Amino acid sequence: MTTECGQIRARSTSQPEGSGTPQSPVWQSVGVLPRDRADGDLAGCVELARAVHDWDGYPHYVPADLRDFLVMPDAYGAWVAERDGQLVGHVALRRRTAPAPMELASAATGQPASQLGVISRLLVAPAARRDGAGRRLLRHAWQQAVNRGLWPVLDVATDLTGAIRLYESCGWTRAGAVTVTFRDGNSLDEFVYLGPPPPGR
Ligand SMILES: CC(C)(COP(=O)(O)OP(=O)(O)OC[C@H]1O[C@@H](n2cnc3c(N)ncnc32)[C@H](O)[C@@H]1OP(=O)(O)O)[C@@H](O)C(=O)NCCC(=O)NCCS
Repeated sequence: MTTECGQIRARSTSQPEGSGTPQSPVWQSVGVLPRDRADGDLAGCVELARAVHDWDGYPHYVPADLRDFLVMPDAYGAWVAERDGQLVGHVALRRRTAPAPMELASAATGQPASQLGVISRLLVAPAARRDGAGRRLLRHAWQQAVNRGLWPVLDVATDLTGAIRLYESCGWTRAGAVTVTFRDGNSLDEFVYLGPPPPGR
């Protein structure tokens, strides 16, 4: 099977997620490979985002329609994870995030913004936590970035400690902290993380 961009050959769902290359042992995790998000998944993804917002306060600022949070015009793709036929997780890969984290990520990697792939909208249903879905989604999005020759990066609010632990347990390194200021004057303190780079960088 190929993805929407035809750039990755997905493994059989019975094959361990961690068996692809390149990889580090920290990515090892067994389970069903995330699949492309389809239009028909959006209602379930909105429900998921609402549950995560209520549980974790992420996203911090909720748009009137949560579809606007999930469907981004600059996305390379978005993927969902299922367990027992239920949608339990979501992740996306996009071209950019706010200017301050983009600048820090560019400086830390030595790459122009066009060579970065920003992993975002990582969500796992509260009832499905600590079962490896977050790691599988993160790894999948990382692989999608690397397949495009992009260096995976992300920004995370400093209070999302579970996500921060996940990134660090998967070998991501903290490049620094920034404050993102939104158009309405709200601001958010964030850490910027760099994923394991694509081969040759
Ligand atoms: C962060 C999140 C995606 C993790 O999902 P998950 O499916 O529970 O993660 P996993 O089961 O794959 O966890 C993998 C590892 O990450 C670390 N980890 C994940 N959640 C953790 C937590 N709450 N506390 C401490 N460590 C945690 C652990 O090392 C864990 O391995 P272990 O369970 O063997 O100890 C989920 O908690 C979530 O949706 N949080 C709210 C949304 C969010 O913060 N998104 C990120 C926005 S940038």
